[in-house]
Amino acid sequence: MKEKLVIRGGKPLHGEVSVGGAKNAAVAIIPAIILCDGECVLENLPDIDDVTVLKRTLIKMGAKIETLSKHSLKIDPSTIKVNKVDFDIVTHVRASYYILGALMAKYNEVSVKLPGGCAIGLRPIDQHIKGFEALGAKVTTEYGMLHAVIPKGGLTGADIYLDCVSVGATINIMLAAVKANGRTTIVNAAKEPHVVDVANMLRMMGAKISGAGTDVIKVRGVESLKGVSYTIIPDQIETGTLMVAAAATNGDVKIKNVIPHHMEALSAKMMEMGINVEEGDDYIRVHGEKRHKAANVKTLPYPGFPTDLQQPVTVLLSTASGTSLIEENMFEARFKHINEIRRMGASVTINGRVAVVQGVERLTGAPVRATDLRAGAALVIAGLMADGVTEISNVKYIDRGYDHIEEQFIRLGADIHRAKVEDDYFDDDEDDDVYLD
Ligand code: EPZ
Repeated sequence: MKEKLVIRGGKPLHGEVSVGGAKNAAVAIIPAIILCDGECVLENLPDIDDVTVLKRTLIKMGAKIETLSKHSLKIDPSTIKVNKVDFDIVTHVRASYYILGALMAKYNEVSVKLPGGCAIGLRPIDQHIKGFEALGAKVTTEYGMLHAVIPKGGLTGADIYLDCVSVGATINIMLAAVKANGRTTIVNAAKEPHVVDVANMLRMMGAKISGAGTDVIKVRGVESLKGVSYTIIPDQIETGTLMVAAAATNGDVKIKNVIPHHMEALSAKMMEMGINVEEGDDYIRVHGEKRHKAANVKTLPYPGFPTDLQQPVTVLLSTASGTSLIEENMFEARFKHINEIRRMGASVTINGRVAVVQGVERLTGAPVRATDLRAGAALVIAGLMADGVTEISNVKYIDRGYDHIEEQFIRLGADIHRAKVEDDYFDDDEDDDVYLD
């Protein structure tokens, strides 16, 4: 049954809220467990569709998974018995390609259905393949499957230079290298917090990894990895989404269980806009009382401004005083939310990779459609700040990366609820390849 979010906006958000586990760490850490020989317990997992899909995939592969609570799983990968992962379910998850990286340590021939991915650009995987081939695998793409043949003696460490900074390729090559023979160096590696989180768990398992969080990661292959208990880091993008929502509604919100250091690019930008951002050891308080100022944003790999927060910040800037320039350098189709906020009165023009946002006094509620995960989150923020009622369809996009997003905002006093979509005849969600990130 299709659902929509109904928001009566214009109310400043007030109160305290806690952030959940990081989606983009969880979707890599779950496949990474394929590499180890023992049982693992994961804590602070976000209760989101991406995690559900990966859990179901590992079960279909033969792993034993016990749900300990809403946010923790016990996974025994030792019973995995397939080297061909052709279940349709994996085409709805971007992160399914991590299964290939992990399986290459177990078998001499593996294949995984090509991944999906939010419709925010072409999202090639040439750098993943470049890394796997440098390690000795022969990778082909046929019948919609990524297929890798590994030499009898296994993969061999290599020096790999990434042509572009890629979170997925960095993590995937790390997964393939941790049990390869010899040393691997990944140069121009991604430094996102979730890359470091995956490396930290692998090191707890016994992997020899150094340099995660810098642009050169070194791996020395080991024979085996043991099972561990691991707690996922707080979600940097959920934290940023809540920060932006607090500022956009001129509210006063304390966001707990965060790592302020991970938020520096956004915090600095919000302070530039005249918004009060107060950082504690494990919380960030955001409160705005006057109209925020315009600012320019360029998305870059971490520690630059995160592309995943570009869409929410575009909405924040849509009511700033002045004109803002937003440059989306990471994905070529990540402005789809702009058509939707224009329906709410935003004044934005797009020129290639740059959106020019002329601040307006206020947004007004309207029926809008989520086109991808973070566009959906941006529309929720637009609904919270708009005068009147906003209805957001295609909520399933939002549920991929946010754990019941409306519940967080209800805790902060928002008038938001989930409703069934009566007449979904024109809802083109069926036609879209509804992929998960
Ligand atoms: C991860 O996607 C995240 N998804 C994305 O978050 C995030 O936007 C992105 O990293 C950047 O931070 C997950 O972790 C599941 P990339 P990923 O490889 O790994 C190009 C969200 O909303 N590239 O870092 O796919 C690519 O086209 C999602 O949570 C190649 O050219 O991103 C892009 O321009 C959306 N060849 C740039 O690199 C490759 O082989 C960065 O992509 C790989 C990537």
